Amino acid sequence: MSNKKSDKNKKLWGGRFEETTSPFVERFTASVSFDNCLYQYDIEGSVAHAKMLGKVGILTEGEVADIVRGLEEIQEEIADQKFHWSTELEDVHMNIESALTDRIGEAGKKLHTGRSRNDQIATDLRLYARSQIDEICELITKFQKALIELAEKEASTILPGFTHLQTAQPVTFGHHMMAWFEMLNRDFGRFQDCRKRVNRSPLGSAALAGTTFPIDRNYTSERLRFDSPCANSLDAVSDRDFVIELASTGTLLMTHLSRFSEEIVLWTSTQFNFIELPDSFCTGSSIMPQKKNPDVPELIRGKFGRVAGAHTALISIMKSQPLAYNKDNQEDKEPLFDLIETIKDCLYAYGQMVSAIKCNRDAMENAASKGFATATDLADYLVKKGTSFRDAHEIVGNVVSYAIREQLLLTEIPLDKLIQFAPNIEQDVFTILTLDGSVHARNHFGGTSPEQVLNAVNDAKILLDQR
Ligand code: ARG
Repeated sequence: MSNKKSDKNKKLWGGRFEETTSPFVERFTASVSFDNCLYQYDIEGSVAHAKMLGKVGILTEGEVADIVRGLEEIQEEIADQKFHWSTELEDVHMNIESALTDRIGEAGKKLHTGRSRNDQIATDLRLYARSQIDEICELITKFQKALIELAEKEASTILPGFTHLQTAQPVTFGHHMMAWFEMLNRDFGRFQDCRKRVNRSPLGSAALAGTTFPIDRNYTSERLRFDSPCANSLDAVSDRDFVIELASTGTLLMTHLSRFSEEIVLWTSTQFNFIELPDSFCTGSSIMPQKKNPDVPELIRGKFGRVAGAHTALISIMKSQPLAYNKDNQEDKEPLFDLIETIKDCLYAYGQMVSAIKCNRDAMENAASKGFATATDLADYLVKKGTSFRDAHEIVGNVVSYAIREQLLLTEIPLDKLIQFAPNIEQDVFTILTLDGSVHARNHFGGTSPEQVLNAVNDAKILLDQR
C-alpha cells in the first residue's frame, strides 16, 4: 500500500508506526501554523535544557556548544523569515529539533534527552505569557499616565455625574478620569498577581512523571528567570490555569475598556458634545458627509466579545480533562494569542486616544447646570440648618417640582419664594447651589473637589514612579 512509511516521510515519533499518517490527520493535528510564533521561547527553553544536560554530564561540552550554536542560527533564520516550517513536522518543537539535527547531526538528536514536548510546551507558554504580561503592564502604565495628565488639566472642569444615566450631582472631569485610573490600577495589580503563578518552571517534568536522568531543575528554572520549578510533574505538564487566569484578567480589563468606550461614544455625540477625539482616531461615512464616527472606541467596545469568547473557550477546553497532558490543550493557543494581541491593541489605542481628548468645557458645564444637579446640596444645606435629612429631602423635592413647573433652575428661584418652602433658608444658599460650590464642598479623600483631584493625581504620580 502507498501509505507504508518510507524514510522520507518518517516522523520523529514514528518508530512504532507501520503506516504513515493520513494527510487529513496530519493537517488536523498540526499546530505549527499558529504555534511557530513561540519559537524564541522554544529555543530559549532548549538552550537552558541543553546547558543543564551539559552541567550534569549527560552531554559533552562540545555537544552543548554545537546545540547552542545550531539553535542560535535557527533563531536567526526564523527571525529573517528564511526558515521553512513544515506541517509534516507538526509543531514548533519538532520543526526546530529536526532543523537542528539536519544542521549539527548526532548532537541534535540528544537534545530531547530527559524532556518531552509536554513539559516543553508548558515551558514555552509560560515564557510567552510572562513576556506578554510585562508588555501589557507597560501599556496599562502608559494609558494611566495619559489619564493622570488629562485629570490634572481638567481638575476643575465640571460635568454632570450620572446614576442610571440621569443627572445626579456635578462632578469634576478630573475626578471622572481618576475613576478610570483606579480601575486600570486594579487591572495592573491582577496582571502582576497572575504573573507570580505564571512564573514557575515545568521543565524537567518530562512527559508526566519526571525523568530517570539526574537533571537539575533549579538550574533550568533560574536560567529561564522563573521563580522556582513547579512542584508536581503531573500538574506541571497539564496545568493551564495560568492561561485561563490571564484570559479572565484580560476579560475584566476589557470590561473596563468597554465601559470607557461607551462613555466616549456618548460624549462625542452631537447631543452630549462633551469631548472631541482627534480626526486621526475617527472615520467618516461614505454617504453622510457630516459624520465623524468614534470607530475606535466602538470597536474596542465590540472587542470585549472576542476576549470574553476566548476566555470561555479556554475554560471549556480545560473542563473535565483527566491528568495529565491531553491534546485538548493544543486548542489553547489560538484563543490565547488572539486575546493577547487584542488587549495590547486596545490598550495602545487608549493611551493614544486619551492623550488627544479635547474637552468642551462649556458644553459640560451647561449640561451640569440642567437636571437640578445641586438638589442634594440644598438638602444638605437644610440639614446643616437644623432640618432632619428626611424632611429636607421632602422639602427639596417640592422645590424641584416647583422649578420644573416654572421652568427655572434652582439658582433662579428668588429667596422669598425659597423661604416659603423652608423658613431657615438664607441668602448664603446661592453659593451652595452653584456647580462650583457643589464640587468644592466635596473636599474629602476620594471626593470630587478640584483640590482632591490634584491630590489624587499626585498620589497616582508617586505610585507610577515606583513601578
Ligand atoms: N502542540 C502541543 C500543544 O500545543 C505540544 C505538546 C504535544 N505533546 C504531545 N504529546 N503530543 O499542546
